[in-house]
This record gives sequence, structure tokens and C-alpha cells, in this order.
Amino acid sequence: MPLQQKIDTLRAKYNEALKGGGDARIEKQHQGGKLTARERISAFLDEGTFEEVDALAQNPTPGGEKFHGDGVVTGFGRVDGRPVAVFAQDFTVVGGSLSLTQAKKICKIMDMAMKVGCPCIGMNDSGGARIQEGVNSLAGYAEIFLRNTMASGVIPQISLIMGPCAGGAVYSPAITDFITMVRNTSYMFVTGPEVIKAVTHEEVTKEELGGASAHGYKSGVAHFVVPSDLAALAHTRELLSFLPSNNMGEAPRRQALMESPLENAELDEIVPDDPSKPYDMRQLIKGIVDDSHFFEVMEGYAGNIVVGFARLEGRSVGIVANQPAHLAGVLDIQASEKGARFVRFCDAFNIPLIVFEDVPGFLPGVNQEHNGLIKNGAKLLYAFCEATVPKLTVITRKAYGGAYIVMASKHIRTDFNFAYPTAEIAVMGAEGAANVLYIKEIQKAEDPVAKRAEIIAKYNEDFANPYVAAGLGYVDEVILPRETRKKLVRALNLLETKRENMPPKKHGNIPL
Ligand code: HXC
Repeated sequence: MPLQQKIDTLRAKYNEALKGGGDARIEKQHQGGKLTARERISAFLDEGTFEEVDALAQNPTPGGEKFHGDGVVTGFGRVDGRPVAVFAQDFTVVGGSLSLTQAKKICKIMDMAMKVGCPCIGMNDSGGARIQEGVNSLAGYAEIFLRNTMASGVIPQISLIMGPCAGGAVYSPAITDFITMVRNTSYMFVTGPEVIKAVTHEEVTKEELGGASAHGYKSGVAHFVVPSDLAALAHTRELLSFLPSNNMGEAPRRQALMESPLENAELDEIVPDDPSKPYDMRQLIKGIVDDSHFFEVMEGYAGNIVVGFARLEGRSVGIVANQPAHLAGVLDIQASEKGARFVRFCDAFNIPLIVFEDVPGFLPGVNQEHNGLIKNGAKLLYAFCEATVPKLTVITRKAYGGAYIVMASKHIRTDFNFAYPTAEIAVMGAEGAANVLYIKEIQKAEDPVAKRAEIIAKYNEDFANPYVAAGLGYVDEVILPRETRKKLVRALNLLETKRENMPPKKHGNIPL
């Protein structure tokens, strides 16, 4: 074959690969409000950085229409100049269904991501196991799940759900660090509405069962819910900006921003004097971090705890905060799980943890106890105990009982514990203490109401303050809210060289 013909053949093959499943299917994809796999990748990566791998891979199974790439686009590129591995399932080719060829392509880039230590981003849009391939497709899923597990804690793994993701296919995203779902066009479930109807006689639509709202607000499976493909891609670029490329590295440091004053006097007004009055912990966080910018994770789920990323003098930090504006900031099953997973992510990836604490305790209730508040609350305790990244705690108001210990108290290796003058650090609140310790005294009194008030006032004076803990060294410093940023920044500077290790072990046994 003459050289020119060889060149033409090569070009023709690549041009064909670019067409995916063809114009009609691409049109259908667009009509459904979705971008194609290639459009997604090019919107996601820094311009002109995509290096595709296996564009010409073909399914070796005899028969059926052959497509270059076999339903997934894979390769490497850059986000803000840093390398990433990316795969995007192509719904226009056999519904993006997973063949063994497709699985091998995905595994190949995951293996390379592990070798070079770069994040792996998966864009999921697939009808699931390629039915014609039978067990070979299942084998392909298994290879991916295994790699997801091996990569966990080594490189950040992010899953974008941009179409169907059903059956066992959901377990790859579930093992990854973050799941972002696109509103109205994505869904995730293990068994779909038809099977559910046949088995349990419940009637439910795909959207109600496994749409972005279901997982962003009810199940807690999705960490982020976004309105469109483009929003998902931009959002993921920003998420990556807070993360290191792998567990041996540090998150990129930005230039410190001038908008966040070192001392913000307005902060002194946020925590109310009255301990029963709610306030929005986000307001405090935003008053402290760079540019008042808080990148929240799982915003719609378990609102009594707030978690997310921010920067302090350009350094990426993970924030975990009780939220007095929601269920008084109490710790329940959902909040404990949400907090624990976030803490473990930050610890795995060298992101310092900052805790803002205002917690009345764990949520009482038969339902909570019977659904495992003990083991779920223990997850958060375990996560904070094992974390060796720099840990800083600011007690803004209530710090009661077991919840005081759990929320990164001094006793569990927290590096610096600060408290505001409004802090109340005790085994329980004054009302509860009065009922347990002084109930007989109150009943015997001539005026029980006045006696109770007197006992509560005395208890508050004696115990519900930060000074007993500060006197014992359990609080390092009592500070004014306006000083918070300065104190945190200085502590982080000192802790830059922190080294702390866990005892050698295969792995711990977190109460799952
Ligand atoms: C082979 C598939 C496919 C699949 C879709 N297609 N899913 N081909 N295997 N799993 C093909 C369709 O035949 C069609 O081909 C094209 O992809 C587009 O699909 P449509 O049905 O036209 O699209 P839409 O109407 O948008 O419906 C999307 C869908 C539906 C809801 C995903 O395709 C569907 O229900 N697919 C089957 C889903 C499923 O049961 N998968 C197996 C799940 S079990 P043409 O040529 O007509 O364009 C599983 C186990 C994993 O995944 C276990 C891992 C451990």
C-alpha cells in the first residue's frame, strides 16, 4: 500500500472514531439535554491537552456492528495544568454499555493514573452490562471495582453521573471519593422501578427512585447535585483545585487573598448570647476563610453537620462544623456518617481539618438507637481519632458529653483547641444536670421554680464555660471570634511539618 494511502487509512479510522454512534444518536443525546462523551471531555480539560488512548479499540466478539472505541472515550489531560486520567462512556455507542473491551480501556487508564499518581475522573452514561457479552461484561465490571478499591486513598477518584447508572454498575462510583449527579438526566439504582414493582408492589419513577434529588437529599449517595453537564464539569474542576494529585502530595497552594481580613470584628456578633438561639454556622465559616468562599460537600443531606473545602491563606483545608441552625446541630446517624467519610477523605489526602463545634450531644430516640446510632456515631469518633493530618478545633458554644469528645477534642490528638468565651464545655447542659443531680433539692424547696433557676444559674457559672477546660489544658486558648482566622493560620503554619503515625497494622476495623 502506498504511504499516502496508509496515511489516509489512519485518518479515516480516527475520523470514524470521532463520530461515536453517528449523527442521529448524537442528535438524540443533545435532545435529551446531554453532551456527548467527547464534548464532555473537551469542556472538562484544559484546552488542547487531551491525549486519547485506545481510540481504535474494537470489540473482538464476532457479529454485531463494530465501533471504534467501543462505547467509551479514555485518556489523559490536564486540569489547571495538573495531569488527570479521564474516561467518558459514550451513550451513542450501544448505549454506552460496558463490554470487556470497554472495561479494559477504563482499567488501562486507571492503572496509569496509579503509576503516575494523578486523579481519575469517570463520566458515567451507560445502559449497564453489555447484555450480549454476558459474564465477560460482569468480569469487566469486577476488574474496575477491584481497581477502584486499590486506588482508594491513593489517588482522588471522582464519578460524574451524567445518564443512566444502574444495577451493579453503581458500585464503581460508590467506591470512588465523590459522586456528582446532574439534575433530571441522571439516575442511579441497584434495581429499577419495574423490578421493584414486581417484588414489593411499590410504584415509583426512575427520577423519584434514583434521580439527583433522591441521592443528594435522601440517601446521601451523591455528594453534589448540579443543574447540567457543563455545571458538573466546571464544578469538578473546582473540586480538584482543593485536592492533591495523590496521597503523597499536597493540594496546590493559592496566593493568599486580600479580601479576607486577618481580624473580622463582625464575627464577634455571630454566636448569640442565648445558648438556645440558633445561628448559621456557614456565616461564621465564611467570615473566616479566604474570599469567604466555602465549597460545600453534601449540602442537601444531614444539614445538622456542614462539611466542605475552603482555603486559609491559600492553603486547602477541610471543614467539619456542627450546624446549630438545623436540629440544633445535634449528631445523629446521618450526620455522623457524613462527617466520618469527609474526615477520612481529608486525612487520606493530607488536607488539614478544621472543626467548628457547637453540639448539644447525640440525638436521643428509639429510632436512632435501633438504627445503630452507637456504631454510626463511633464512625465519626474513629475517623477523628485516626486522622493524623493537622487538626484544629474551635468550640463556639456547646460542647457536651460524648459529642464533645468526638468533635476533635484535645484528648484525641487534636493539635490546637480554641474556644470562644461563649463556649460551654460540660458533661451535659444545665437543665439536664439540674434534673439528675438536684431534683430532690428542687422538689423539697419552698419555691421549686426559683430553686431550679438558682441551681441552673450556679451550674452555668461553675461548668458551662470554657475556663474549666482551659484550666486543665484541654482548651489551648480562649479567643475572641475575630481572632479565629489569625489563630488558625498561625497554627497551620506551625503544623506544616507535622508528622504523626499510626501503629503498624494491616488496617483498622472502623465500625461499619
Ligand atoms: C446492550 C444496550 C444496553 C445494554 C442499552 N443498549 N443498554 N445494549 N446492553 N445493557 C442499547 C439499546 O439497545 C439501544 O441500541 C441503545 O443502547 C440506546 O438505548 P435505548 O434503549 O434506545 O435508550 P433509552 O431509551 O435512552 O434507554 C436507556 C436505558 C435502556 C434505560 C438504559 O437502554 C435500558 O433499559 N437498557 C438496559 C439496561 C439494563 O438492563 N442493563 C443491564 C443492567 S444489569 P440501538 O441500536 O437501538 O440504538 C447490569 C449488571 C451490572 O448492568 C453488574 C455489574 C456487577
